[in-house]
Amino acid sequence: MGKMNKGIFITIEGGEGSGKTTQSRLLKDYLENLGREILLTREPGGTVFAEGIRKILLSPTSRPVPLSELFLYEAARAQHMEEFVIPALKAGKVVICDRFTDATVAYQGYGRNLDLKLINLLNKKATFGVSPKLTVYLDIDPKKGLSKAKILDKEFYGSDGDRIERESVLFHNNVRKGYLSQAKKCPKRIKVIKTQSTPLKTHALIRKYLDAVL
Ligand SMILES: Nc1ncnc2c1ncn2[C@@H]1O[C@H](COP(=O)(O)OP(=O)(O)OP(=O)(O)O)[C@@H](O)[C@H]1O
Ligand SMILES: [Mg+2]
Repeated sequence: MGKMNKGIFITIEGGEGSGKTTQSRLLKDYLENLGREILLTREPGGTVFAEGIRKILLSPTSRPVPLSELFLYEAARAQHMEEFVIPALKAGKVVICDRFTDATVAYQGYGRNLDLKLINLLNKKATFGVSPKLTVYLDIDPKKGLSKAKILDKEFYGSDGDRIERESVLFHNNVRKGYLSQAKKCPKRIKVIKTQSTPLKTHALIRKYLDAVL
């Protein structure tokens, strides 16, 4: 990232039900208590336009072909970056983003078998070259995570899960492989953290990596 950006960009990644949203919030509270200004956001989404794309992407009645799905994620990303994330970083905020470019590698690359070179190129374009200083990958057994996510959906929305959650366990196992291979490729940026028995235990592990980026 260019020197003019004083903020810190942190992304939280992981499969369905791995605890991304829970950990993003805990991280926000922790950093706010340290006196930092935080922007907590998510992908796809964060802006009105990109939340619209999110709805299309997650709707169980949507039937995008893989390439179309990839382009929509990247379209949402470009909007979110230019309108929201980059200005916040320039203002010196800590931006915490629930999912980002590694999710595209994992889901569209390893899940849908799209060309990784194309994905990396689009990721670079859509992010304007801005990359996270720290990425936390929350690792959970996909079967376990999926069942957690689905139980929540039933309880709160009476639904059978979004379009991605309805994919097979095989798909989600491939997604996990994608995340782990990304982590191997970028060990300095991506920290693999196993989801612990409680959110606070997981949070404690994440905090160990924070000092280095603050
Ligand atoms: N370490 C943990 N131990 C036990 N339960 C947890 C843990 N972390 C999160 N949970 C619970 O698991 C569920 C899923 O967590 P959360 O919504 O944060 O995951 P997510 O990765 O954001 O899921 P999604 O992919 O659906 O957005 C929630 O009910 C949450 O309270
Ligand atoms: Mg979530």
